[in-house]
Amino acid sequence: MATLRLGDIAPDFTAESSEGTIHFHEWLGNGWGVLFSHPADFTPVCTTELGAAAKYKDEFAKRNVKIAALSVDPIGKHHEWIKDINETQNTTVNFPLIADPEKKVALLYDMIHPNASENFTVRSVFVIGPDKKVKLTLTYPASTGRNFVELLRVIDSLQLTANYSVATPADWKSGEDVVIVPAVKDEDIPAKFPKGHTRIKPYLRTTPQPNK
Ligand code: BEZ
Repeated sequence: MATLRLGDIAPDFTAESSEGTIHFHEWLGNGWGVLFSHPADFTPVCTTELGAAAKYKDEFAKRNVKIAALSVDPIGKHHEWIKDINETQNTTVNFPLIADPEKKVALLYDMIHPNASENFTVRSVFVIGPDKKVKLTLTYPASTGRNFVELLRVIDSLQLTANYSVATPADWKSGEDVVIVPAVKDEDIPAKFPKGHTRIKPYLRTTPQPNK
């Protein structure tokens, strides 16, 4: 499978998980999804990542986002490791860990980068929209744990910009002003953005976040 690009349909698959068999598209339903891989069970950084993801499960749910983790470990190992995650990270893993020992999903999603590791998935993240299209991809090396607060922040931006003609500036956080996209003409701004706007440059126009 070639690299998945933004706008591509996230490939469907069926796989075993710690919460039973998952038919991926059916499991996603009409909401958003995050599929993220980690290199291996019973490793330190992965343990902290899965613990962090579990702690933020409610934040993902508030945004109508389901999350699922994946590695090439077998299902029995996932079940054993979950006990360690719960114990050491003071949490309860409350989302599926997909077992992919035959690397079917890993190859479908190009999660194995042979020049990094022949055998293990890197830390890939795919954010998938309700239309099943890939909205965001991230790739981190095994040595660097991901920031799940940043993932939530990006999802806030993706969900906002899916519904309004705005984009979010550098370091934006939900509640802060946003940028009006260049396709909106100056004369159309008052009707579209009744909260007001600031015209800093002809191409740089800001407005309060429209859905707050
Ligand atoms: C970790 O999760 O700690 C890890 C996994 C694979 C290689 C290096 C670190």
